[in-house]
Amino acid sequence: MQLGVCYYPEQWPRERWPQDAELMRQAGLSLVRIAEFAWVAMEPREGEFTWAWLDQAIEVLAAEGLQVILGTPTASPPPWLCRAHPDILPVDAQGRRRRHGSRRHYCPNSASYRQHTVRIVTAMASHYGSHPAVVGWQIDNEFGCHGTARCYCDACAEAFRDWLKAEYKTIDDLNEAWGTIFWSQTYGDWSEIDPPNLTIAEPSPSHVLDYYRFSSDTYVTYQQLQLSTLKQLIAPRQVVTTNFMSQFTDLDYHDLARPLDLVTMSSYPTGHAESSSSLYAPHGPRPVYAYDVGDPYITGFGHTLMRGFKPNRPFWVMEQQCGNVNWGTYNTGVRPGTVRLWTWHALASGAEAVLYFRWRAGLYAQEQFHSGLLHHDASPAVGYTDLEALKADRPLMSDIASAPHEAQIALLLDYDSLWAVQLQPHNRDFDYMRHLFVCYRALQHLGLPADVLSVNADLSPYKLVIVASASLATGQLATSLKAFADSGGTVLLGVRSGVKTTSNRFIDHPLPGVLRDLVGLTVSDWHSLPPGVSYDLSCDIPGLDGPATVWAEALRPAASDARSGDPGLHVLTRYTSGPFSSGAALTEHRVGAGRALYLGWYPSSPQAEALLAHLATQAGVRPLAAVPDGMIASRRGPHLILLNFTEEPLTATVQGRAVMVGPRDVEVVKTYGT
Ligand code: GAL
Ligand code: ZN
Repeated sequence: MQLGVCYYPEQWPRERWPQDAELMRQAGLSLVRIAEFAWVAMEPREGEFTWAWLDQAIEVLAAEGLQVILGTPTASPPPWLCRAHPDILPVDAQGRRRRHGSRRHYCPNSASYRQHTVRIVTAMASHYGSHPAVVGWQIDNEFGCHGTARCYCDACAEAFRDWLKAEYKTIDDLNEAWGTIFWSQTYGDWSEIDPPNLTIAEPSPSHVLDYYRFSSDTYVTYQQLQLSTLKQLIAPRQVVTTNFMSQFTDLDYHDLARPLDLVTMSSYPTGHAESSSSLYAPHGPRPVYAYDVGDPYITGFGHTLMRGFKPNRPFWVMEQQCGNVNWGTYNTGVRPGTVRLWTWHALASGAEAVLYFRWRAGLYAQEQFHSGLLHHDASPAVGYTDLEALKADRPLMSDIASAPHEAQIALLLDYDSLWAVQLQPHNRDFDYMRHLFVCYRALQHLGLPADVLSVNADLSPYKLVIVASASLATGQLATSLKAFADSGGTVLLGVRSGVKTTSNRFIDHPLPGVLRDLVGLTVSDWHSLPPGVSYDLSCDIPGLDGPATVWAEALRPAASDARSGDPGLHVLTRYTSGPFSSGAALTEHRVGAGRALYLGWYPSSPQAEALLAHLATQAGVRPLAAVPDGMIASRRGPHLILLNFTEEPLTATVQGRAVMVGPRDVEVVKTYGT
């Protein structure tokens, strides 16, 4: 387990660097990320490289035994570059050319930006690619942050047309796939297709979904440009990554993660508790844990997403909040003990390294109200004192870091389906990520660890697989889920599955389309339910009561099953009011040695918890512990890690034994394999 910090030597006098480096070492840090916004400091004028300061900064850090992660600085092109090539600046959905003066002001399809990207990355990699203190590289910084995942400039329009040509081959095929006869949109030539912004009414959802895919692919290509440049020049021991954002969904992180050596993330628990609070609506108010810890389920969901983007390599937290942030609504102050708790949480979720953001609070510019491990005046802030407290934990942390994170339950995440639902939610309260989160949080409440994986993942290590809404299900997914069930697995499929083609138009087969054989039924009708309208349910599964809200589907045994009177299809829940009354709302279909369930409504948290508890028991997945709300249980190898995010002592039951965990504290129990 390595700890580290994000450092901006270019923002501090050189005379200060040795003292900073010494304090870092003394605090037990070993990794330092630098330079990801330092383009103008490295190249103040085109072609004029000033490596001396960076050489010296690295030497100073190396002298204290610190290892360096170098950021490529492309998240902030310097003013001279934007002035020389105004086409670098992106165009937003409102058609406005954006300005420099902040960051992320570039279009990844700009030919001049690509050229200058290769130039600066080549220069950096040539200079530091074999430096013994440099152990890795971070490409750019948080692709897509500040709403920059999609640019609408002319270069993007041109690149989009090429992307479409490669995808559809002929304009007729595109017209057919998008259904452009609607509203007289049939295209006669590729040149007639524009990006889907500035339309009078909503653009075609097929058009927009392809623009989202194209934009995501654009960043994959842009990242690859940097990755290939780096890989040609750096020593093989230097790893390459980029940093992802917790609940960010504008880019397909599965695609971005694939070519990288490892996945890293930014984790800001108090900030994300605010910015991702929509994960809780509409079912009940959002719970509040200790006021300065954020929401452990939202934070843990972020960790879990990262773990799933590259399941064979532990992730790093490249930016860990270590005091207040500056970009929230309240920017809650952080008390002693919380940074230690967050660090443990990352480790418990499978992280291999945690770097704090940032070393010292900045004296100027946009982030001067953001905390660091040190205060503005360089005195120790709460993060630094927590590092002192963590010293006693470090040997145990290192033990744990080498053990695998284990889960027997997987949730599947598919960006195409997510975007399709986002584009046509049909019901304001229907949110793809929330649907996933409700299940994730229910499992955490039950002490059941889960992974979140791509629909293309290998499911064989799992016993229970949850597919919240496979709206754009493919034959490949159907085959994979069938094989998983055949060999004894349990599949839980949710509403709005199998309804669309991959081009985001409705299918003309009975629903859930390619998944119909798997679940052995037909969705014969569906209703979106406004607030205040619900359909009652009757169910034998303990706790699975309360009405169906938000979305309800009528389920009928599939024709073939009806003919054979399919003994393999069992109705577990029925509607008892509303138009689907007495019809099935939850079914279980026997498939090979396993089964596939179809959940016909959008579950509330208590409903998800009751159902998943039942399914886990049936599938033979045992909880790690019985934990109260606000306590997280996680397993790495033989270690059970219990984290309390509340102000009160909480008690978990572990294999019949009570284990008390203090407020905002951690307990590690060695339970397995001993
Ligand atoms: C991150 C970003 C950092 C810094 C930080 C502040 O999203 O990567 O550069 O801005 O937020 O919390
Ligand atoms: Zn563009």
